[in-house]
Amino acid sequence: MAEAMLAVIGGSGLYGIDGLEEARWQEVDTPWGAPSDAVLTGRFEGRPIAFLPRHGRGHVHAPTDIPYRANIDALKRLGATHVVSLSACGSFREEMAPGDFVLVDQFIDRTVNREKSFFSSGCVAHVSMAHPVCDVLAVLAAQAARQAGVTVHEGGTYLAMEGPQFSSLAESRMYRESWGADVIGMTNMPEAKLAREAELHYATVAMVTDYDSWHPDHGAVDIKVIGQVLRANGDHARTTVANLARLLPRAGACKAGCDHALDHAIMTAPERR
Ligand code: ADE
Repeated sequence: MAEAMLAVIGGSGLYGIDGLEEARWQEVDTPWGAPSDAVLTGRFEGRPIAFLPRHGRGHVHAPTDIPYRANIDALKRLGATHVVSLSACGSFREEMAPGDFVLVDQFIDRTVNREKSFFSSGCVAHVSMAHPVCDVLAVLAAQAARQAGVTVHEGGTYLAMEGPQFSSLAESRMYRESWGADVIGMTNMPEAKLAREAELHYATVAMVTDYDSWHPDHGAVDIKVIGQVLRANGDHARTTVANLARLLPRAGACKAGCDHALDHAIMTAPERR
């Protein structure tokens, strides 16, 4: 089996990782255009690792405009086998409080304005998204976050919205009460779908920054508050990544079958591709 290699996609507030040996920012070319930024590669305590700031250094890409296909392709080209995605999210549950991390295991994709597949006319494939998260990677990420001193919730449904505006009160209530979503964010779809198509193990660490707009005691989402929570969380996020890098070599086969998702998924006959 090839050596496991962790790639980290950092969301708002996470633009690098510390303690890398042989660190260098690599420009990667992909058929889908340029990724969000160069990719920081190196070794962490001897293990290969890659880091990509999802919004680019300087936070230049809005959620809709993130080059999701190029990002996943670039990490795959660099040899990544596992992708952990860190991102800020709003919470629909009282007990999932700002500062907590949620290891989501389901998604509802409400994004409407993004390229969502590597496959289209010319080569058609349909991968399963029934279990969109690598259960093994998610358990390790939960362990890594706990070791970092974070309150962790294992399992939850992430609603991916288009943005960039936040939800209305009516939407927030509907997602929470009727749809059963636990957290909300703008960036993990189509990232998770593309990671599955690329046969990468993928897990999301959703870092709660706010209660969206449903909570009677918290009022509307305020980007200033989100920034404050993310800055306060910075050490937790960085330590979680470092701990996960140490834990990953113990990763085994996952129930979702992430690394052979395409085995029976391609419909187009080989001679027509
Ligand atoms: N990111 C952080 N908080 C969010 C929220 N309430 N809605 C969408 N994305 C978010």
